[in-house]
Amino acid sequence: MAKVVVTGKIPAGGLARLKAEHDVLAWESDEAISRTELLQMVSGADAIVSLLTEKIDGELLTASGPQLKSVSNVAVGYNNIDVPACEERGVLVTNTPGVLTEATADIAMALILMSTRRLGEGERVIRAQDPWQWGMFYMLGMGLQGRQLGIVGMGQIGIATARRAKAFGMNIAYTRRSPLEVDVAKDLDAKFMSMDELIESSDVLSLHCPYSPATHHLISENQLARMKPTAYLINTARGPIVDEQALVDALKAGQIAGVGLDVFEHEPKVNPGLLELDNAVLIPHLGSATVETRAAMADIAATNALAILAGKTAPNLVTS
Ligand code: DGY
Repeated sequence: MAKVVVTGKIPAGGLARLKAEHDVLAWESDEAISRTELLQMVSGADAIVSLLTEKIDGELLTASGPQLKSVSNVAVGYNNIDVPACEERGVLVTNTPGVLTEATADIAMALILMSTRRLGEGERVIRAQDPWQWGMFYMLGMGLQGRQLGIVGMGQIGIATARRAKAFGMNIAYTRRSPLEVDVAKDLDAKFMSMDELIESSDVLSLHCPYSPATHHLISENQLARMKPTAYLINTARGPIVDEQALVDALKAGQIAGVGLDVFEHEPKVNPGLLELDNAVLIPHLGSATVETRAAMADIAATNALAILAGKTAPNLVTS
């Protein structure tokens, strides 16, 4: 039996599968594990099943010991893991692609609707019991029909978001390393653009690229200044892709019309400037937060960890 360390609470199905085959040490509290406790807990682990809130770096790999074979993130994004440090030590890294595509695209579409139709702002008026009355010009938003949705990073989640937006009558444009396969692009009637062209021409710009040093502050002062003043920015990917202070400044200066954020640069902290702005819709990293999706994520992470411990090829390797 191998020692498997699970660094946070995960759905029962995935945990049970790990327990059925191995000696599992799981962090059972609702509160996130402290760094000190984490470093102690991973000592002697053969496999780690990690959450995106835990930093898996050289220090942690050393604390685990040379027997460590794998780190299986219960997330599709794995920017919390120092992949080169894992590779150096021969530790395999896996993630959970596919199963959270639809849930995350739902949240991206929800943020598009919430920000363009001022739903957070409207709800706050009702909850605050502020006086209000139907009015011809009261709380007008932007209609989506015929507007351009610009997708940065047209992978699975970007495509799923584009499908939803198309059903709302939006025109789809995107940028990514290479154009989509012809049939997918044709199905979505999606136009491939350069990043600059996309930024300048989109009515809603939605971020779906992974976070890495190359995408750090991909959207900063310069890009925000080139967006249409009537445009909205949506981020369901990772917070540090956007320079949050530059975003606050741009919103305050009226350089863009609004923003919908599911992720934050210094999560769980939120830039106080955003909290003051009615045209900022802010939700707490809910992209994959459905019962079904989280169960599937835990199940896939378990499949990956169990495969590696059994000497097989894991289905979702991000290391080679
Ligand atoms: C992921 O899996 O990367 C998501 O952000 C989790 O919600």
